[in-house]
Amino acid sequence: MQFCLVFWVLLSFHIFFFENKMSRSSMEIERKLLRLLHGYKTRTRLTQIHAHLLLHNLHQSNQVLSHFVSVCGSLNRTEYAAKIFNQTHYPNILLFNSMIKACSLEDPFREKSINLFVSMKVRGICPDEYTFAPLLKACCGLREVKFGEFVHGEVLRSGFERFGSIRIGVVELYTSFGEMEGAMKVFDEMGQRNVVVWNLMIRGYCKRGDVDMGLCLFREMSERSVVTWNSMISYLARSGRDGEALRLFCEMRDQGVELDEATVVTVLPVCARLGDVDVGQWIHSYAESSRLDREVVSVGNALVDFYCKCGILETASKVFNEMGKKNVVSWNVMISGLAFNGKGELGVDLFEQMTSEGMIPNDSTFVGILACCAHAGLVEKAWELFGSMTGKHHIEPKLEHYGCMVDVLGRSGHVREAYDLIRSMNIKPNAGLWGALLSSCRTHGDVELAEHSVNELIKLEPWNSGNYVLLSNIYAQGGRWDDVEKVRVLMRDKSVKKSPGQSAVG
Ligand SMILES: *[C@@H]1O[C@H](CO)[C@@H](O)[C@H](O)[C@H]1NC(C)=O
Ligand SMILES: *[C@@H]1O[C@H](CO)[C@@H](O)[C@H](O)[C@H]1NC(C)=O
Ligand SMILES: *[C@@H]1O[C@H](CO)[C@@H](O)[C@H](O)[C@H]1NC(C)=O
Repeated sequence: MQFCLVFWVLLSFHIFFFENKMSRSSMEIERKLLRLLHGYKTRTRLTQIHAHLLLHNLHQSNQVLSHFVSVCGSLNRTEYAAKIFNQTHYPNILLFNSMIKACSLEDPFREKSINLFVSMKVRGICPDEYTFAPLLKACCGLREVKFGEFVHGEVLRSGFERFGSIRIGVVELYTSFGEMEGAMKVFDEMGQRNVVVWNLMIRGYCKRGDVDMGLCLFREMSERSVVTWNSMISYLARSGRDGEALRLFCEMRDQGVELDEATVVTVLPVCARLGDVDVGQWIHSYAESSRLDREVVSVGNALVDFYCKCGILETASKVFNEMGKKNVVSWNVMISGLAFNGKGELGVDLFEQMTSEGMIPNDSTFVGILACCAHAGLVEKAWELFGSMTGKHHIEPKLEHYGCMVDVLGRSGHVREAYDLIRSMNIKPNAGLWGALLSSCRTHGDVELAEHSVNELIKLEPWNSGNYVLLSNIYAQGGRWDDVEKVRVLMRDKSVKKSPGQSAVG
């Protein structure tokens, strides 16, 4: 290692030579190195500086090394920091803290930060107020309650629980494990609670599925941040409570809270699901006034999606065309939106434009574009695009893509081709695929294939009474009463219960 470093010394000496102006005092050199270290952070610079540490005999300076280790941490070079740390003889609290922090940032080192803490105590060095925050963060990442409880115990023993930031760390620790009783205990004992700790508590309960408790805390808060509002709205929406989510958003708006991009991206899908065009349009004009719609891709995407789902294609296209930057999601949303609104041909044109502009389609793009083909009845085009997935774009078709193809073929009466496609698949067809084939067989009156599809469905879902009913109907329509009876016996043997509301005629 040292030999290598001599090389770096030679290579990088010029930087230091000019900046150093020949000053030789150790303090001066230390200051220069720190400035270099914090000035322009790159991995190469790290190695150069390490060479200088060795050259100027500063490789045992805890002061300089603690800065060095922090910069390593911020550059994701914890491994390097650990090697250097391992060569120090008398690390002090400063260096231990930096090392613990560096380890807490990078996944494979999180557990090491706990070991460091233990070895620090073994050396008789007492933790200080800066030791615990990174240690608690490391525990959150470790996802093991035993480490968390150990560190919390140490916090209590050290008396640093009186520091607000450390208490917040403890609350974060418990909430990240979903241990809300532990979190609540610490939270209750806190004198001053800032918005960060309230948000942590709300998130903890909601993530555990207790949205009502989250809402309770939300109502108790006197000062909420935009993050508080966003997360409460989002958790309501995620648990299927769209109406409440939208009402909460309106409350937020009426209180004059400034929306951010997360608000827009969270609320627009709610508006789309509820069909509330007014609120969506209000959000659009708000986004326009702060230029979020053009400058933030996710906002543009959410607006395009919203307008497509509400069937307002003109505005969707306008927003799409005016977006300053587009990513693959933008194109996907617009193409699927066109399919959704039955504008398959336009979707195909847009796909051509997408590829000609050099945007690389992904698997979702093909779901959208094949849906466009299905709506527009473009069988040839669908085959061409489907073939290009593996041929040109190296995307392995998934069940969804086969489903789209079965839909394309089935709608246009190519039922046998759809069946051959299913037969040729490398992956096991699912019930959705046979279901799609079945419905087109029924539309196009292919009784034989319909019967086959239902039998496949019964193999996949022997418990689903609907399948037997379908089969029985197919036989009944053909006057095959013996077979109808066979199905009835089959159902009895497999003890499938007909669910209420499903009639055998139909
Ligand atoms: C950090 O390094 C690890 C491997 O040591 C790597 O897996 C990870 O992706 C890196 N993270 C960043 C942000 O560079
Ligand atoms: C520290 O050095 C010792 C030997 O000097 C070695 O056994 C150990 O693995 C090293 N630890 C790290 C983290 O590099
Ligand atoms: C393709 O894009 C969609 C968004 O339209 C995204 O959700 C999906 O994860 C992407 N797929 C891959 C394999 O990256």
